[in-house]
Amino acid sequence: MSNVTITNHPLIEHKLSILRDVNTNPTVFRHLVNELGALLCYEATRDLPIRPVEVQTPLTAMTAYEIEEEIALVPILRAGLGMVDGIWDLVPNAHVFHIGFYRNEETLQPIEYYNKLPKDHPINICLLLDPMLATGGSAIATTNILKRWGAKKIKFVGLIGAPEGITALQNAHPDVDIHLAAIDERLNERGYIVPGLGDAGDRQFATLF
Ligand code: PRP
Ligand code: URA
Repeated sequence: MSNVTITNHPLIEHKLSILRDVNTNPTVFRHLVNELGALLCYEATRDLPIRPVEVQTPLTAMTAYEIEEEIALVPILRAGLGMVDGIWDLVPNAHVFHIGFYRNEETLQPIEYYNKLPKDHPINICLLLDPMLATGGSAIATTNILKRWGAKKIKFVGLIGAPEGITALQNAHPDVDIHLAAIDERLNERGYIVPGLGDAGDRQFATLF
């Protein structure tokens, strides 16, 4: 069964509280999604393979280490977009491939509308980015696509998960590690995470009317 890692840290707790607040405006919300993504990335990349590299410091030659493999960041549009920049700053050699899903509001099923994966260049290690793991449908569908593409190690990095979504993703893909800032109580009848933070896409892009 996949590991679920909740990164507990005072900075994460503090930022998450502001993110959840209904009065937080889109500019601050976007900023926090970005920062929280970067903080979670630190733990999610802890086991990246590294290899020795010879470095000449101003004083002497030494053996240091560099990340061995190509890394793909795969944000699920739209809300996952907000997590890219902070993580990309930490993993500057990463490639970014966008996948678009929206949830059908009645069935809650994910509907694919965009896929920018290069067909002939699969990357082994993928960080799948989406702030919300609600029913798990979007994460499962994206993981299916990434595995068909050829990805060997996939980690889901999100901000808030519902128990239902975590269980669904674990059952569908037991090899996918899950990194979150918090596990909330439940889903409501409309598939929203409670207490959650509302609609992560609408709150980032100011499309809540
Ligand atoms: C939200 C969120 C996830 C998905 C999670 O996307 O960003 O992608 O719902 O729900 P699930 O676990 O039940 O699949 P949404 O469909 O609202 O699209 P958006 O990002 O464009 O707002
Ligand atoms: N998508 C969101 O943006 N928020 C939720 O609570 C559930 C799905």
